[in-house]
Amino acid sequence: MSNKTINTEQGHWILAKMGKRVLRPGGKALTEQIIHSLNIQSKDTVVEFAPGIGYTADILLDKNPYQYTGIELNEEAAQNLTQKVNKKSNAIIYNRSASETGLETACTDIVMGEAMLTMQADNRKSEIIREAFRILKKGGLYGIHELGLKPDNISEETKHTIQRSLAQTIKVNARPLTQKEWCHLLEQEGFVIKTIHTSPMHLLRASRVLSDEGIWRTLKIGFNILTHGQARGRILEMRKVFEQHETYMAAYGIIAEKP
Ligand SMILES: C[S@@+](CC[C@H](N)C(=O)[O-])C[C@H]1O[C@@H](n2cnc3c(N)ncnc32)[C@H](O)[C@@H]1O
Repeated sequence: MSNKTINTEQGHWILAKMGKRVLRPGGKALTEQIIHSLNIQSKDTVVEFAPGIGYTADILLDKNPYQYTGIELNEEAAQNLTQKVNKKSNAIIYNRSASETGLETACTDIVMGEAMLTMQADNRKSEIIREAFRILKKGGLYGIHELGLKPDNISEETKHTIQRSLAQTIKVNARPLTQKEWCHLLEQEGFVIKTIHTSPMHLLRASRVLSDEGIWRTLKIGFNILTHGQARGRILEMRKVFEQHETYMAAYGIIAEKP
């Protein structure tokens, strides 16, 4: 990767290139809690929005659903995912936006999406949530895992400061919301909130990296970061911003039902 690419590349792709596989704010544990609440059965069809490098796709496929469909916007990621799932007869990947999946109305039991709504402007968030609602069957569940702000009455000034710092360091216009705001967005599109899980936002804390990635991968990531100076600079900057705003940041896992 050239220095110019490193300086402008979105934070999650830099982490992925350093070997990090868990790229969502609440880590593996929150993903597992959400999947447990979704209670996936072998008769269920599952759609995942933004599978990225396919970490959750593996967990979802291990549940042996009737059908798994991944909707990934990034062309390279979609190609890699296609290769990854290509031997499975019950899995397919589309290189499309989650706001326009091209899937039939009321075709799926479960929709799951992680660390992807946060990076959209508020009107785009609603478009994607509306699409999840459209493709879900009645009684179907939508699980999201997103970056949050706390408390619910956080001042607008603090919110803007955090959004600005995140945009500067992650190079994504990340717009995290409070728990109340996330729930409101889902309810506005017709969902009923079933369960809310919360977790601290410790994405780049050593203890979280160790529990998410295991010892060997953590060592590999550490080695990669040490030997890639530019990437190291970007990652240290991200960690500094996460630590600076830690009091106000959280990860939310929300399960919503299409009534
Ligand atoms: C931070 S990564 C998270 C990936 C994965 N969900 C995870 O938690 O590891 C964000 C992902 O969202 C994808 N993405 C962003 N906007 C999207 C959209 N509108 N539709 C589908 N995928 C999208 C990006 O290409 C990227 O793979």
